[in-house]
Amino acid sequence: MNIKTPHRKITTNIPCEVTKQILSDLEQYESRSMQGQFPLVWDRAEGFYIYDAAGNKWIDFTSTIFVANVGHGNQRVIKAIQEVLEKPLLHTYAYVNKYRTEYLKNLISFTNGAFEKAFLLSAGTEATEAALKLMRMYGQKQGKKNLGIIAIEGNWHGRTMGAQMMSGNIAQKAWIGYQDPNIYHIPFPYPWHIKNQSGATFLYQSIKQLEARGINFKEDICGFMLETFQGWGAIFYPKDFVQTIKEFCVENHILLSFDEMQSGFARTGKRFGYEHYEVAPDLICCGKGMGGGLPLSGVLGSTEIMDLPEVGNMSSTHSANPLVCAAGIATLEEIQGKNLVNESARKGVLLHTRLNEIQEKYATWISFVLGQGLIAALLFQTPETGKPNTLLATKVAKQCMQKGLLVVHTGRESIKIGPPLIISDDALLEGVAVLEEAIIESIGEAA
Ligand SMILES: Cc1ncc(COP(=O)(O)O)c(C=O)c1O
Repeated sequence: MNIKTPHRKITTNIPCEVTKQILSDLEQYESRSMQGQFPLVWDRAEGFYIYDAAGNKWIDFTSTIFVANVGHGNQRVIKAIQEVLEKPLLHTYAYVNKYRTEYLKNLISFTNGAFEKAFLLSAGTEATEAALKLMRMYGQKQGKKNLGIIAIEGNWHGRTMGAQMMSGNIAQKAWIGYQDPNIYHIPFPYPWHIKNQSGATFLYQSIKQLEARGINFKEDICGFMLETFQGWGAIFYPKDFVQTIKEFCVENHILLSFDEMQSGFARTGKRFGYEHYEVAPDLICCGKGMGGGLPLSGVLGSTEIMDLPEVGNMSSTHSANPLVCAAGIATLEEIQGKNLVNESARKGVLLHTRLNEIQEKYATWISFVLGQGLIAALLFQTPETGKPNTLLATKVAKQCMQKGLLVVHTGRESIKIGPPLIISDDALLEGVAVLEEAIIESIGEAA
């Protein structure tokens, strides 16, 4: 390939020669679980561009994995971290640092009064675990007989034990050796399942089934955990499905939590993805885009819920580390200063309009284009059978990489698109054109 455009440059084979040793060493020294990623060694990432050591340049439609919302190597984030590094002040756990206070104050203010307090962590899975704990502590305080949680089939909340218990992937949690008898999974309202039914009707079927199993919601259930959209396919719920869940939660004194890992911090054209459903959650779990590239996660809620654990009973060594808090402050400033919520919504319309045109052209191969704002998924199928086509999705993702565009390879029948929210319109449209070329070529090979 020899590609040179204002936004892309591919002049060597990929992976380029000088990175091959890095890749083979990795295979030798890193556990197998991290393998399976495409063989591209990032040397530099700036704005919405990725570079390798040979100077090849890609348009990034991944934001790593929906992390670099404010752009790779964001200068405000870098400056904020440098200030803390130069003090120096790398860690303060048992004592307070001013960045922690400032960040929490700004974070709560960013939620426009929806939440009163937050607890900071490092990984997303810790945040969903913390929400699980808070929902159950709330149930105990309410005097519930059982501490049941309702989660959704196919949703995903992380890799630690509680997060896996709430996740819907049965094979992934087989290692635990048992199922938590108080975590119930109800079906996800996939557009291909729900068809003409309302979201509320679909939900009531699940509620009736749980009742038939003898569950009394007031006494046995303390929390409802929703991934804001189902990750692999950027699949949002029908609005009335979520609104009915909220009514049901209020009626039965159940807390409603959203896992906003992928959907938070302007990704979907709102500050947080739950706003699309026009409901008020009791808790949200955040991470990824929160820290502008640094490991920052957290749970947000009301004072009543967030203060349930005793002093010292919800903490973490790296919680509220000054470096990540400084990065968090800069990230919020970037989102607000660059109007990224509106920008994500505006560019989302550009993106989805073009993707829908592509879907219409190749409708026998692409069953759905889903998502909102700057998150999108294309779902591939086999024309003769209508069955999910994972091979084609992988082929398209690989072909994009060879052509100077990075998309998220999900390992399923979908590819996902989530560029940094600061991407230019021009690069966004060039990227979609590259994607269409890759689809045409991959379909040609698959046909
Ligand atoms: C919806 C969702 N929840 C939780 C997690 C877990 O986050 P982390 O990998 O930071 O632990 C992820 C990560 O991909 C996610 O997408």
